[in-house]
Amino acid sequence: MSNRTFTMIKPDAVKAGHIGKILEQITGAGFKIVAMKMTQLSGATAGAFYAVHKARPFYQELVDFMSSGPIVAAILEKENAVEDFRKLIGATNPAEAAPGTIRALYAKNVGENAVHGSDSDENATIEGNFHFAGCDVFTY
Ligand code: RTP
Ligand code: MG
Repeated sequence: MSNRTFTMIKPDAVKAGHIGKILEQITGAGFKIVAMKMTQLSGATAGAFYAVHKARPFYQELVDFMSSGPIVAAILEKENAVEDFRKLIGATNPAEAAPGTIRALYAKNVGENAVHGSDSDENATIEGNFHFAGCDVFTY
C-alpha cells in the first residue's frame, strides 16, 4: 500500500471554473497536496501519458480532449491514497458515479469526466514522475 496518488483536473472542469471546488473536496477528504501545477498538455504529451489506452477506440478522442485546454496536475498524499481517491472521484461514467463524488458533481460525460485518478500504486508513481521532478514534490 502506498500513500500517494496522482490526479489531473481535466480541461472540461478547468474551463467550467471548478478548480477551487474540486481542490476543496480533495483536501476536505483528507488528501494533502504535495505537488501541484497548472499546465497544458501537447497532443504528444497526452498521447504518451495515455499510451496504455492506445488500442482503445476512444484513444484519439481522449488525447484531443486532454490537450484541448489547461489542466491542473497534482500529487496527493493520504493513507490508502489510490483506493480512497478512486472512491472520491466515482465511476468513469458520471451517470454511474455515486452521489456526491467529484464526477457525479462536475463531469459532463464518460469522456469529459472532470478528473483523473491513478488506478494502482505502480501507476501513481509512474504518473507522478511523468509530470513532476523530485525537487517539485514537497514534504511538509
Ligand atoms: P482516468 O484514468 O482518467 O482516471 O479514468 P478511469 O480510470 O476512470 O477510466 P479509464 O478506463 O482509465 O479511461 C481513461 C479516460 O478515457 C476516457 N474514456 N472515454 N468514450 C469512452 O467510452 C471513454 N472511455 C474512457 C475518459 O476520459 C476516461 O477517464
Ligand atoms: Mg484510468
